[in-house]
Amino acid sequence: MEYQIKNAEGKLGILIPGLGAVATTVIAGVEAIKKGLSQPVGSLTQMGNIRLGKRTENRYPLIKDFVPLAGLNEIAFGGWDVYEDNVYQSAMNAKVLEPTLLMAIKPELEAIKPMKAVFDRDYVKNLDGTNIKQAATKMDLANALMEDIANFKKENNCTRVVIVWCASTEKYIEEGAVHQTIEAFEEGLRNNDVNIAPSMIYAYAALKSDVPFANGAPNLTVDIPALVSLSKELNVPIAGKDFKTGQTLMKTIVAPGLQARALGVRGWFSSNILGNRDGLVLDDPDNFKTKEVSKLSVLEEILNADINPELYGDLYHKVRINYYPPHGDNKESWDNIDIFGWLGYQMQIKINFLCRDSILAAPIVLDLALFMDLAHRANMSGIQEWLSFYFKAPQTAEGLKAEHDIFKQLIKLQNTLRHMMGEDLITHLGLDYYQELVESL
Ligand SMILES: NC(=O)c1ccc[n+]([C@@H]2O[C@H](COP(=O)([O-])OP(=O)(O)OC[C@H]3O[C@@H](n4cnc5c(N)ncnc54)[C@H](O)[C@@H]3O)[C@@H](O)[C@H]2O)c1
Repeated sequence: MEYQIKNAEGKLGILIPGLGAVATTVIAGVEAIKKGLSQPVGSLTQMGNIRLGKRTENRYPLIKDFVPLAGLNEIAFGGWDVYEDNVYQSAMNAKVLEPTLLMAIKPELEAIKPMKAVFDRDYVKNLDGTNIKQAATKMDLANALMEDIANFKKENNCTRVVIVWCASTEKYIEEGAVHQTIEAFEEGLRNNDVNIAPSMIYAYAALKSDVPFANGAPNLTVDIPALVSLSKELNVPIAGKDFKTGQTLMKTIVAPGLQARALGVRGWFSSNILGNRDGLVLDDPDNFKTKEVSKLSVLEEILNADINPELYGDLYHKVRINYYPPHGDNKESWDNIDIFGWLGYQMQIKINFLCRDSILAAPIVLDLALFMDLAHRANMSGIQEWLSFYFKAPQTAEGLKAEHDIFKQLIKLQNTLRHMMGEDLITHLGLDYYQELVESL
C-alpha cells in the first residue's frame, strides 16, 4: 500500500529548545551548506542512498530524491534558551565551528534570537540563565509555548513546524502517577506538579500545536504514557530519546559484530572526557544518572545475556563521563573491551575515539526534523520506532524491547521509506539470483 503523503509545500519551521552547541552547529551547518560553503556529511537524508528493487536493477537514488522531504532552502530555524545569546554568539561560545565559517553566515545566525525558556533549576542545577518565562502554573507556561509556536509559524510563513529537543539533560526522574494519563498530566500542569519536567511542558505544547516532537536528550519527556496517548489521540509523531553519537555509536557498531560471530564479552569499560556545557551539566550526579541509564541499556539489549548466558552472562559494563574543560566539545572516549573466543581464550579490543560531539549530533537533528515532518505528512502518529537509528535509548511501544543494533535499525528505517513509497521491501534473502541461474542452466 502506498501512503498518501502530503507534499512538502511551503516552509518547514524547525524549533529547538536549547540553542547550545548541538543546535547552533546544525543551524550554522545548514546555512553554510545553503551557501555552498560546505557539505552535509553524516546526514542520511542529504547524502545517503537507498537501494530499490533487485541488485541487478542498479537503482540507488539519494534518499532526498526518493521521499518528499523539505528542502534545505525551505527551512526556518528558531528556538528557546535560558541565555539571551543569539545563535551567532552561542555558536562562537560553543567553539565547535571555525570563526571564519561563522563570520560568513553571521547575519543569518544573528537574526535567530532565543525565545524565553521554560526552565526549572531543580531539573538542571548547573545553569543559571535569566531568559526565562514566568507564570503562575505549568499550564500557563505550556500555553505561552503554544503562543510562541503559533507566532513563529506566522512570522516565518511556515506551513509546518517540528520540534527537536537539544536542551540540557534534566535530572533523573522515574515515571509516576502524574505521567500515566492525559487527565492526570493536565491536572498536574494546573497544580504545578513537581514531577512534570520543563521538557514535558515543551512536548505537551508541541503536541497540542500539531507539531511533531523528537527528544535528543535522555530525559523521559515524551516517553511517558500520558504524552504517548496524547500523540496518538492528536495524530502527531513523537520520537526519542538521546541522540546516538560518539561512544554509543561505536558500541552499536562493534557489539552487533561480536555477537554476530558468537564471540563472548566479559567486560566493557567506557570512559569519556568532555568539556562543553553538556559536560558541565552532566557533572551533576542527578543529571549524569539520566545519561547513564540511557547509555547502559545499549549493550544489554544487543548482547542479550538471557538467551546467551555462556557468552554474555558475566558481562560487566561500566560507563564514566568526566567533565574536563580543556577538551571543549572535542570529546575523547576510551573503551576497553574484554572478549573471549574459541575454547574461552581471552582477547582485548581498545577503542580511542577522538570525536566531535556536536559534529556527530548535528546531522541527526536535521534528519530527525525532516523525517518527523515526512511522517506527519504521511499521517503516521505516536512513537516512530523506525527512527531508532538515531537514538541511544529508542522509544518503543509498551512491552516491546528496543532494537539497538545499528544495522537492523538502518534496515528498519530504509524498509519504512520503501513501504511509504510503495516499493518492495528488501529482505536480503537473495536466493532468487541463484535459483534463476540454476534453472537457466
Ligand atoms: N552532542 C552530542 O553528541 C549529544 C549526544 C546525545 C545527546 N545530546 C544531548 O543534547 C543536548 C544538547 O547538547 P549540547 O552539547 O548542545 O549542550 P549545550 O549545553 O551546549 O546546550 C544546551 C542548551 O540548552 C539550554 N537549556 C537548558 N535547559 C533549557 C530549557 N529548559 N529550555 C531551553 N533551553 C534550555 C542551555 O542553556 C544550553 O544553551 C544535551 O541534553 C545532550 O545531553 C548530545
